[in-house]
Amino acid sequence: MSIVEACESKTNATPNFPMGWFSVARSHELLVGEVKAIKAFDRDLVLYRTRSGRVAVQDAYCPHLGAHLGHEGRVIGENIRCPFHGWQFGADDGQCNHIPYCDEIPTRAQIRTWHSEEKNGEAYVWFHPENTPPQWALPDLPELGDPNWTSPRYTEHLVPAHVQDICENSCDPVHFQFVHNNNSIPDSVVTIDDDGRTMHLHSEMVDADVPGHLHATTYSPGFAMVRNTYGPNAEMIMYNSPQPIDQHTTLMRWTLIVRREIEDLAGDDVMKGIIAGISDDYPIWANKVHKHRPVFCKADQTLVTFRKWVRQFYLTSEDKREIA
Ligand code: FES
Ligand SMILES: [Fe+2]
Repeated sequence: MSIVEACESKTNATPNFPMGWFSVARSHELLVGEVKAIKAFDRDLVLYRTRSGRVAVQDAYCPHLGAHLGHEGRVIGENIRCPFHGWQFGADDGQCNHIPYCDEIPTRAQIRTWHSEEKNGEAYVWFHPENTPPQWALPDLPELGDPNWTSPRYTEHLVPAHVQDICENSCDPVHFQFVHNNNSIPDSVVTIDDDGRTMHLHSEMVDADVPGHLHATTYSPGFAMVRNTYGPNAEMIMYNSPQPIDQHTTLMRWTLIVRREIEDLAGDDVMKGIIAGISDDYPIWANKVHKHRPVFCKADQTLVTFRKWVRQFYLTSEDKREIA
């Protein structure tokens, strides 16, 4: 008699957050002196741009009496000022460096400062459960800003799913047939670069509405690029930089560009088609559980590769076993 695993609930099997760079804002949405309350990794954070123009991401709650620095906090030079009693914290180290009514500053008056970097039109934070420094650099995206490509279009989608499950989609060619109405499962191959971290899926989309070649490059669970090639100089790129809000909610930030050669001919349709594609995935993501021990069949090789690959982004070997 075989034993069938009990149904997993949405709360008992969801992994923590993988390490890596994650987008928390688009650069043009954060002006000099602007302060925002954001949520990522199930934490409340404050995001702001100092007078010199640098982006800072810090824990939201003031160590004094716990005010949220993202609500009515103010940028003063390179500091953030708490709205409650005016204590100021440095953008670079989170140390309190000014209390307006006291000369002596407690050394423990410090807020956690996240490693952040601005690149490719977005602000990113480095997430690691132990707050270690970044272990790899953000990718260069030469097509972004290249005059042969259109200027970017942006779209955002709040999805009730764990960031790893969304990332897993990029290694799942079978769902192209069942979810996205391809007439067949595209021939696909998954490879991993020598760095062990950058993963590629190549799929021959011969039976898609617009046939072509799909190349998804996943740099880490926080950043993927999907290039669709329909013919010579007929290409579209979609960058996906998800922000994990909590274990069950992810904000997907998509950036879309097409080659100038097809801008008038098909650019709008291609972009609309890509954006519409998410409405196919949405009901699956919104209602699924995260299976930490999936039952795979022999032909699920790309998904097996993904699960092995994703383990490196979790902390300990115990975590890795639990999660993947
Ligand atoms: S709560 Fe922030 S200064 Fe008092
Ligand atoms: Fe999909």
